[in-house]
Order: sequence, then C-alpha cells, then structure tokens
Amino acid sequence: MAAKITIVGAGNVGATAAHWAASKELGDIVLVDIIEGLPQGKALDLAESAPIEGFDCRIVGSNDYAATADSDVVVITAGVPRKPGMSRDDLLHTNARIVAEVVRQVAKYSPNAYLIVVSNPLDAMVYVAKQVSGWPKQRVMGMAGVLDAARFRYFIAQELGVSVEDVHGFVLGGHGDTMVPVPRYATVTGIPITQLLSPEQIARLVQRTRDGGAEIVNYLKQGSAFYAPGAAIVQMVEAIVRDKKRLLPAAAYLEGEYGIHDLYVGVPVLLGAGGVEKVIEVELTPEEHAALQRSADSVRALIRALPPLETLMAAG
Ligand code: NAI
Ligand code: 2OP
Repeated sequence: MAAKITIVGAGNVGATAAHWAASKELGDIVLVDIIEGLPQGKALDLAESAPIEGFDCRIVGSNDYAATADSDVVVITAGVPRKPGMSRDDLLHTNARIVAEVVRQVAKYSPNAYLIVVSNPLDAMVYVAKQVSGWPKQRVMGMAGVLDAARFRYFIAQELGVSVEDVHGFVLGGHGDTMVPVPRYATVTGIPITQLLSPEQIARLVQRTRDGGAEIVNYLKQGSAFYAPGAAIVQMVEAIVRDKKRLLPAAAYLEGEYGIHDLYVGVPVLLGAGGVEKVIEVELTPEEHAALQRSADSVRALIRALPPLETLMAAG
C-alpha cells in the first residue's frame, strides 16, 4: 500500500515539498492549509502534471484534517516565513501557537505518524511539537540540517570546481546564526576539505552557510527559501517511507548525547522506518564541542521564551 504523506502548510515550502515527493512517487499526498482553496488548487495543479511527468500518486488538498487520517508521515510547514530584517527568533510566539494547533489536529487523526517539523524557529518548534503530541522522540524530528549541510556542500563544490555529488558533510547545532558546520568532517570523495582549501576559504564558506537562509531572504525580499528546503524535507520523508537507513543531520531530541539534555538540536541521526532510530555521536575537538554547546544554549534560551505549555495546548 502507498504511504500517506500529509504536508501542513501549502505555501512555498509545503507545495515545493509536495512537488518533489510526487515526482519521486513517495506515496499519496495530502496538502492542508487554513486558506480556503489554496491546498485544493495546488494539489489539483500538481496532480494534473502527473500525465506529463509520469508519476502515479493521489494528491489532494483540504482545509479539513479528516482528509489526513492515518497518515504515515506528517510534515509541518505551517507558519509565517521570515521577512528581511526579521530574525528566526522573532517568529517564535506566532509560530509556536500555529504549530501547537496543527500538532493537536494531526495527533487526533494520525496518532501513529512520524512528524517532521519545518516551521521556524525550527529547534523550538519541534520542541513544541514533542511537548504537545507527547509522542516518543523517535517519531518527532525537525528538518534543518539536511538543508544547511546542502548549502555547505554546494558552496564547497563551487569553491573547488568539483561536482556536488562528491561533496559530503554535515552541520551541527541549532538552525540559526550559531549553527556549527564542521569542516573537519566535510570531504570531497573522502578527502577532508581542510586539505583542499585554506583556513580563510573555509571560514568564508562556513559563514556563508550560517547566513544561507538570510542570503535568499535578502534576494527574494518577500518570503524565504523553498526549493532546497523542499528537497531536504523529501530526503527525510524518503528515508522513513522507504526505510533507507540514511545518516542525515536532523533536529533530534537529545537526552545526554553530546552532553545536551532535553533539547532538540541538529545532530547526525540514522533515519529509517523507525524514524530517528539512533543519534550518532561523533568525536569533536574542544572548540567544536564548545561551539555546539553555545548553539544548544541559544536553543535553550528560545525554549525558555516559549509560551507556557498550557497556553499552547489551548491554542487554536
Ligand atoms: P509560506 O508563507 O509560503 O507558507 C506558510 C503556509 O502556512 C501559508 O500558506 C499559510 O496559510 C499556512 N498556515 C499558516 N497558519 C496555518 C495553520 N494554522 N494551519 C495550516 N496552515 C497554516 O511560508 P514558507 O516559505 O512555506 O515557510 C514555511 C515555514 O517554514 C516558515 O516558518 C519558514 O520560516 C520555515 N522554513 C524552515 C526551514 C528549515 O530549514 N527548517 C527552511 C525554509 C522555511
Ligand atoms: C532558511 O534557512 C528560512 O530557515 C529558512 O532558508
């Protein structure tokens, strides 16, 4: 039977994720949004491209969560995107209420689903999703690391004039200004980039990765990135519905790993049919470890600034 994939938020990121997911035939897709007609129109438009593109899956749009019943994977992109000059953290309170309401609806209709949260500020929103759902940590995760790592990999490939296919690497920490790209573990066909690029070049690429979201926002003026985020979401969905056992960076709930407790932070995870099947702990230098702790501290500060759980449980 085809997997059922719900994407809540039929805006730029949600619709683009639906597009990539359909073209990979990952399963039947339900798009949900609060705006009447938006998910229906985008779903129908996407479905009408199927005869041309040759994918075979059911795509529907709805404003009613009943259509999402028994989903296997639910992606949450609902929220307000960043505008120029606005930090991800400014979005905290508005999006926390939106995410809490969405999670309550999702949990009602698909109590066994895997949740991939995308809404910003990411690490705080996935924490809200875990609190409101009460689901096990394996089933509630956040997408940011695949995107941030893809940006890092793309910048490295451009700098070296090599194929993106040969560049690998990951980014640790929160999805914000404190994120921690780890050049020691970034490689081109196994060769660490520390042997291929100067420290100055690496520092520039690391900073560009940290600023990757803002770079797109500054170009677009209205809204934020969606092609790469959509592709990153779909890589995670595919890992789960096809049990690919991918080792990908994702926001995972840490209970002592990397010395971090009770917090969602970006780390490498094993992603398969069991969701976040394992958090992978890699050796870090004291400097890398300190940078990760600083990033975790900034996520913790956001968590402390969240509205109380009782307020979120009553949101809607
Ligand atoms: P968008 O504005 O194009 O789409 C958001 C959609 O959410 C809108 O269609 C809106 O009507 C809908 N929405 C709002 N409240 C809702 C509710 N209560 N229930 C259902 N739908 C609701 O924004 P875009 O560009 O798609 O971004 C979505 C979110 O993803 C933003 O918070 C953005 O910051 C975040 N984002 C996160 C990334 C990451 O790496 N984690 C990457 C890119 C974006
Ligand atoms: C990004 O990194 C907006 O968080 C989003 O593009």
